[in-house]
Order: sequence, then C-alpha cells, then structure tokens
Amino acid sequence: MKIGIHDLEVATTHYVLDLDTLAERHGIDPKKFSIGLGQDAFSMPAPDEDIVTMAAEAADTLLARHDVSKIRQVLFATESSVDQSKAAGVYLHELLGLPANVRSVELKQACYSGTAALQMAVNAIARTPEEQILVITSDVARYALDTGGEPTQGAGAVAMLVTANPNLVEIEPGSGFHTSDVNDFWRPNDSTTPYVDGQLSLDAYLTATTAAWDDLAARRDLSIDDVDKFLHHQPFTKMARKQLAALAEHTGHELSDELIEESMSYNRALGNTYTASLYFALTAQLHNNADLAGKRLGFFSYGSGAVAEFFTGVVQENYRDHIYPEHVAKQLGNRVELTYDEYRTLHSDFAATSETYTTQPTTHAPFRLSGVTEFQRRYEAQ
Ligand code: CAA
Repeated sequence: MKIGIHDLEVATTHYVLDLDTLAERHGIDPKKFSIGLGQDAFSMPAPDEDIVTMAAEAADTLLARHDVSKIRQVLFATESSVDQSKAAGVYLHELLGLPANVRSVELKQACYSGTAALQMAVNAIARTPEEQILVITSDVARYALDTGGEPTQGAGAVAMLVTANPNLVEIEPGSGFHTSDVNDFWRPNDSTTPYVDGQLSLDAYLTATTAAWDDLAARRDLSIDDVDKFLHHQPFTKMARKQLAALAEHTGHELSDELIEESMSYNRALGNTYTASLYFALTAQLHNNADLAGKRLGFFSYGSGAVAEFFTGVVQENYRDHIYPEHVAKQLGNRVELTYDEYRTLHSDFAATSETYTTQPTTHAPFRLSGVTEFQRRYEAQ
C-alpha cells in the first residue's frame, strides 16, 4: 500500500522586506544576499499574525478540498512555538472547526520536526489506512537586528494531508538518520531570538546530512543515481548548493545543480521558514517541474542541535492535477513591502509578552491574533 502526501497548501505573512533594501541601508553589496546567500526577500508577520494564523490559513485552504471527518490527528511541527505547554494545533481545532475526536500534538527539534511529524503520520496510516492525518509545519524565523542571520529571516507554513494512495508523493520506507549534540543554533526559553554559531552551523549541517545519506545507503539498496531530484532544508538557498557539492565530493558522483534548481524559487522569496522550508522546496519542485511523474525525490531534512534525516519519495502519476501554484503566487504577491524604517520598528516592537494587549487589525488573512487577555492568546476568523 502506498502512503504519503496526498495534498498540500501554503501560507505566509502580510509583510515582506526586499533584501536590496537591507543591503542598501547596511552598506552591503546586494549580490552578497542574492548570490552569496541565494535570497531575494523575507516574509515578516504583522503584529496580528503568528505560526497559528499561518497554519490555519494553509490548512483551511487545504481542507476545503477534503472530508474533514476522516482526519484523526493534527501533528504541528514548529520551533517558534507560542506556548510552553499548549500545542499550537489545538488552536486550529476551534479556528477550523475540526471534530473533537482528533488528537493534537506539537513537535520540536529545530527545523527537523516537520519530517518527524510526516514520518509519524505515514507510520500511523500504515496501521489504519482509512484515516487521514494533518501535518503542519509553521515557523517565524526571527534573528536579532544587525547580526549575520538577519538577512535569513522569514516566515511561512505548509499544511500537508497524509493518506493512503496519495495524489502527490508516496513516502518510501527506510530513512537514514544522524543525531549529534552540537550547539550550532539554539534559542533558550528566555530569548525571542536564537543564538547562532554561523560557521559551526554550516559545518554541522553538512556533516549531519552526509552522515544521514551514509546511514540510508548502508540500509537500503539505493545509489545516488537512483535519486532524480534532491530537496533540502534551505535556511538560505545557497545552502542546498553547498550540500549537493559536499555530497558529490563525498560520494564521488557528479551531481549537477540541475538536480535542485527548481526547488528554490519559493524559499528565495520567503526566507528561512525553519520546519516548513524543506516542504516549500517540495512544493516548488512539484510546481516548477512538469516531468516528475514516477521520479524519485531525495529529501534532506536538518534541524540544528542537531538531527538530520534523508528519506525518499516517489512522485505520483497525476500529480499535476492536484497542485495549485496560483495559490502560492497569490500568497507571495499579496505581501505588502516594508520600508527599512518600518521593518526596524516592526522587529523592535515584537510583543513577546503574555500581559494583556490588543493588536491593530492589519492582516488580510482569514485568521488573526486579536491579542492576549488574562495571559491567553485570542484568535479570530475574519
Ligand atoms: N557577491 C557575491 N557573493 C558574496 C559577496 C558579493 N559581493 N559577498 C559575500 N559573498 C558570499 C560569500 O563568499 C559567502 O559565500 P560562500 O559561503 O559560498 O563562500 C556568502 O556570500 C555569505 O557570506 P559570509 O559567509 O561572509 O556571510 P556571513 O558571515 O555574513 O553570514 C551565515 C553567513 C553564517 C550563514 C549567516 O547568514 C548566519 O548566521 N545565518 C544563520 C545560520 C544558518 O542559517 N545556518 C545554516 C545552517 S543551520 C540550519 O540550517 C538551521 C537553520 O535553519 C538555522
């Protein structure tokens, strides 16, 4: 029985900052961002947006095409959680009108946990194939001002429906894993921005993903040539190029950038979306390539700290009948461009408080954070 990603939808934020604007005001050659990092812009939430509002929008669009009564679990992966205790997915139940007899849980391991959620969903469906699982990846990547990570900020969500006999991608059994205790990127409970050792993070990413490939190669009869396209976690899109070059050197196989080119268009425009980044790479590959039916995709998932997984999936025959590139174009095109000064103010005014406050209506998205009362987050549909 085939199990995998049956359908998916994405959402991002109200605002966008063009990286040329940042480069100009910081006295940096814009090519450092566009070529050196492979990034054009980043999404930024309005004060009435967060991981829940983006997730709810993506899931709402997705579920409008499906029978919600078949959903048995919501697995919400994020590393920019809004509460230390309550799972972000529980808010979705109310906003989306999901049945009460649905399990909901949140998963964390930096940018990796979306993959853990996807694999948990696939395993659960193997036991109860008539059921469906909603997997959410949603994150706001927010770095401190005037740091190396600042141009790699971003925000976005991908909602995926995992089922038997999927329309898009069958996830194949057998992954390669790698876990090692590395302090390359972490965010303590009392900090709204992460601490980053930039060079260590690049090295840790390459070491862990290569080791995950080795683990898979030792377990499955799979050569690198059996993979038709590679998808990566893309903290910035140049990272995918670096990984492919490292993999080519490690395996002694020539691996051309054509293997990843179509996977980068959305992440270039969104910035880092942490857990969602790999699945925006998948979305871009499916949207940009009309010739994927029957082809094998290789997924490199990485979360700092560090956990990596390499797994594969096969694109299904009629996948072009089940994709909606116009929805992504609308999400990207509808964003309101920030001036540099507006961006600085928005970044500095970020409310990390649980004291009572009300947000000004800004977003045009279907769901918004209206504020906090009595230490409780309040969401509303609009
Ligand atoms: N024209 C073209 N290219 C230029 C250029 C110019 N004028 N000026 C510089 N460049 C190139 C540099 O040569 C370099 O390319 P290579 O790496 O291929 O040599 C690239 O632009 C970046 O330049 P620097 O290395 O000087 O950039 P930096 O030191 O300012 O910061 C960074 C780079 C360390 C990645 C920083 O952006 C950062 O800390 N980012 C956050 C951490 C991160 O994303 N790490 C990735 C792995 S960890 C992960 O994946 C988890 C996660 O999501 C965070």
